[in-house]
Amino acid sequence: MRLKDKVVVVTGGAQGLGRIFCEGLAQEGAKVIVADILSTERTVNNILAAGGEAIGAHVDVSDDKSIAAMSALALKTWGTIDILVNNAAIYSSLTFKSFLEIDCDEWDAVMRVNVRGCFQAAKGVVPIMKKQQSGKIINICSGAFYDGVPMFLHYVSSKGAVLGLTRALARELGDDNICVNAISPGLTESEGVSDHEQFSGPSTDHIVGMRAIKRRENPEDLLGALIFLSSDESSFVTGQSLLVDGGSAMN
Ligand SMILES: NC(=O)c1ccc[n+]([C@@H]2O[C@H](COP(=O)([O-])OP(=O)(O)OC[C@H]3O[C@@H](n4cnc5c(N)ncnc54)[C@H](O)[C@@H]3O)[C@@H](O)[C@H]2O)c1
Repeated sequence: MRLKDKVVVVTGGAQGLGRIFCEGLAQEGAKVIVADILSTERTVNNILAAGGEAIGAHVDVSDDKSIAAMSALALKTWGTIDILVNNAAIYSSLTFKSFLEIDCDEWDAVMRVNVRGCFQAAKGVVPIMKKQQSGKIINICSGAFYDGVPMFLHYVSSKGAVLGLTRALARELGDDNICVNAISPGLTESEGVSDHEQFSGPSTDHIVGMRAIKRRENPEDLLGALIFLSSDESSFVTGQSLLVDGGSAMN
């Protein structure tokens, strides 16, 4: 119970990695606000069934009003927000294509959710964290940025921006005792990934071959890093990106 009674918001918590993050954090004793544009019922019910505490919130991370309502719900229900996990992104619905074929609307949509969403969610929770002079923000970045994965330019660029945001925000919030870090997963078998051949089929075997530990990555492989960065154990760690990819990229 390393997060006993900590209040955590996980964006994009309805499914995929976000759902596993919510359930893993709840198992450590956190009270979880599951925020997503999709129904959060399954995640919330799984946590309640396991004896944990969770509520769902219909949230679009790129909408200020939606973020404000989420913060208000957290305050009304549990009185504070200790941890924000910026996990929501446009990812598994994207297809690989040449950058010449990415139109500006698709580019903007990816940036709006993946980058602006992290910025807006942070703006929504930081005033609460500042008041209590403590907090943790964990941005889900990607190994794809370190590898410069081709045919995915908008996504890779968006995750590079998230890393920049992580570093600069860490410096801006250090005096308020708020740590801002990133986790950069390798290709991980989330539901969205398993549902799409381009991410999970034989064409991705070479990704496993590039790893020091040559196996596919499971969502649960990320939980240790997430809980560490959420807990007091990492209170002097900020502005970092922890690569959890079986030793593929090394920085
Ligand atoms: N699975 C991987 O291989 C992998 C690897 C590296 C990084 N990541 C990152 O991990 C995170 C989760 O990955 P995943 O595989 O579960 O992705 P996914 O695409 O399957 O899920 C993304 C989640 O974000 C939600 N979302 C999308 N737009 C939103 C919005 N405007 N407001 C609120 N919620 C919104 C979706 O509804 C969904 O629940 C993403 O940030 C992704 O970029 C994933």
